[in-house]
Amino acid sequence: MALYPDELIQEICERNDIVDVIGQYVKLTRKGSSLFGLCPFHNEKTGSFSVSPDKQMYYCFGCHAGGTVLTFIREYEKYSFREAVEYLADRAGIALPTVEQSPEEKHKADLRSRLLEINKEAAKYYYFLLRNSKDQKGYEYLKRRGLSDETINGFGLGYAGISRNNLYAYLKNKGFKDEELNGAGLFHYDERKGFGDKFWNRVMFPIMDVNKHVIGFGGRVMGDGEPKYLNSPETMVFDKGRNLFGLHIAKSSRKDYLILCEGYMDVISLHQAGFDCAVASLGTAFTQGQAFLLKKYTSNVYLSYDSDDAGVNAALRALPILKSVGIQGRIIDMRPYKDPDEFIKNLGAEEYEKRIKEAKNGFLFSIEVLERQYDLTDPDGKTRFFNEVGKKLLSFEDEMERNNYIEAVAEKYMVSAESLKSKVAGFALSGIKPEEERVPIKSGINRKKKDGLVESQKLLLTWLVEEKGLYKQLKDYIAPEDFTSTLYKQVAVLLFGQLEEGSVNPGRIANQFENEEDQREIAGIFNARLENVDSRDDKIKAIKETLYKLKENRINTAEEDMETTDVACLQKLIEDKKNLEKYKDIRIYLE
Ligand code: UTP
Ligand code: MN
Repeated sequence: MALYPDELIQEICERNDIVDVIGQYVKLTRKGSSLFGLCPFHNEKTGSFSVSPDKQMYYCFGCHAGGTVLTFIREYEKYSFREAVEYLADRAGIALPTVEQSPEEKHKADLRSRLLEINKEAAKYYYFLLRNSKDQKGYEYLKRRGLSDETINGFGLGYAGISRNNLYAYLKNKGFKDEELNGAGLFHYDERKGFGDKFWNRVMFPIMDVNKHVIGFGGRVMGDGEPKYLNSPETMVFDKGRNLFGLHIAKSSRKDYLILCEGYMDVISLHQAGFDCAVASLGTAFTQGQAFLLKKYTSNVYLSYDSDDAGVNAALRALPILKSVGIQGRIIDMRPYKDPDEFIKNLGAEEYEKRIKEAKNGFLFSIEVLERQYDLTDPDGKTRFFNEVGKKLLSFEDEMERNNYIEAVAEKYMVSAESLKSKVAGFALSGIKPEEERVPIKSGINRKKKDGLVESQKLLLTWLVEEKGLYKQLKDYIAPEDFTSTLYKQVAVLLFGQLEEGSVNPGRIANQFENEEDQREIAGIFNARLENVDSRDDKIKAIKETLYKLKENRINTAEEDMETTDVACLQKLIEDKKNLEKYKDIRIYLE
């Protein structure tokens, strides 16, 4: 699918120095090793937009736009990939040949399509079993949960029977090779027992991308059992941060909004009740990649997260992510019910429609959650509450928007808008920074840890670029598989390759990804900053902690995905845990 060979695109980019090109559009001033200017992709008065000649990348610390010279031209000029390549080739006086795919590209594309086929065949197999297996457990379970045949078929739901290697045998028989099956995420491998099905005795929810390709599965136990849902791991075709369950249907909904919820069953119930615009994330926290995906279809997003603490916290984390792409999310209150599925079952579609109409603005919702922590009948509590509210209000850069919110809050809590305004102005003058949408921790700690983990991975990759000699010291301890998402793994493979060769160029890495989303994210990866790490010792400490976190996570993930009956896996896990401590004693020197 690549139009021009990688090498040529790299050459075109190298002959268009990023500082020259962006300098045509943005006034840049040098600060340290980078140049800064006003970001052309969002409104700002301070220059958060940086261009690095060393990395040959740009990145905005405000709106997180970023990428290479190629991304910039695409974004700024609204060019397609091809148009941007042609523009830059022309600018550098390079003639473009007519070309075909390189062997590696072909291999990669072939493997991808094989993995999609495997997932599709698996979906068909589970679908068949749900309807035709001797035991009707799966079908009965779904019926018990109130799903109609039409719904079951519409979502392609299936059943993985009690047998533990049926799917494997079936796909082998279809001619798939072990090497291909291994990459699909649907099988365990054990040296003694060989391959076995990852999913068995579960109802199966196929997960599709917007183009209706099956890319992975969620499988639910029928009744109680752990884990309640088992999900496919990330694979070459399954990127959990860039897909949403149900979006392949929701994208053609006639409603002009989307509903974001937490669970597969929530999405399915909502669709059955007529809300065919519902989607859910994939067992992981909502990401900016998913926010960009939603933004393609609408700016009108309702959150219908669980009513418990975990759900409220998850919603509070999703709101700023939505805001970062320009979506002001609204929150649907489903109390006294826990989730959309239960709500619809008890009160029906009409009542849900009413709750949509009454949905709360995300900012006011976050204020209400904050309010629960203060005693507003006590003058002191009330003052502290309004101090916090004032800090939150600082996050609105636009004066009119800020004033609108000040008035809304003042009216809601029956205080004077003028005094709230002067409080906010006072904070601004005294240099207090806007309150980051921080999250009260009660439950959902696991997800929070995962957010921290993403930051850790970015830092490590940034440092490996910026600190000469660091890679040599870490290379025996760290592998691309330690990184948690497909994209990070791919970036690590490419970066480690460059480090081995001794010619580091992050822009070159980003250029290997055609997708602008990927390029933006890669720019973010290579521009990670840690506050309060100034001295070399602090940095060394941070590097060790980061390494430890990554290793620990890899073990924890393996643990979560494991069937508790798998003894061999369990033993390996215990071994790995023992070894974890050694990462604290690694010696690191920085130049
Ligand atoms: P919930 O436990 O809230 O799911 O998890 P739910 O939709 O209400 O499930 P039912 O109604 O009991 O069937 C929400 C989502 O979190 C992920 C799944 O994506 C699920 O849909 N999850 C949950 C997991 O990945 N693993 C789990 O063990 C539990
Ligand atoms: Mn539920």
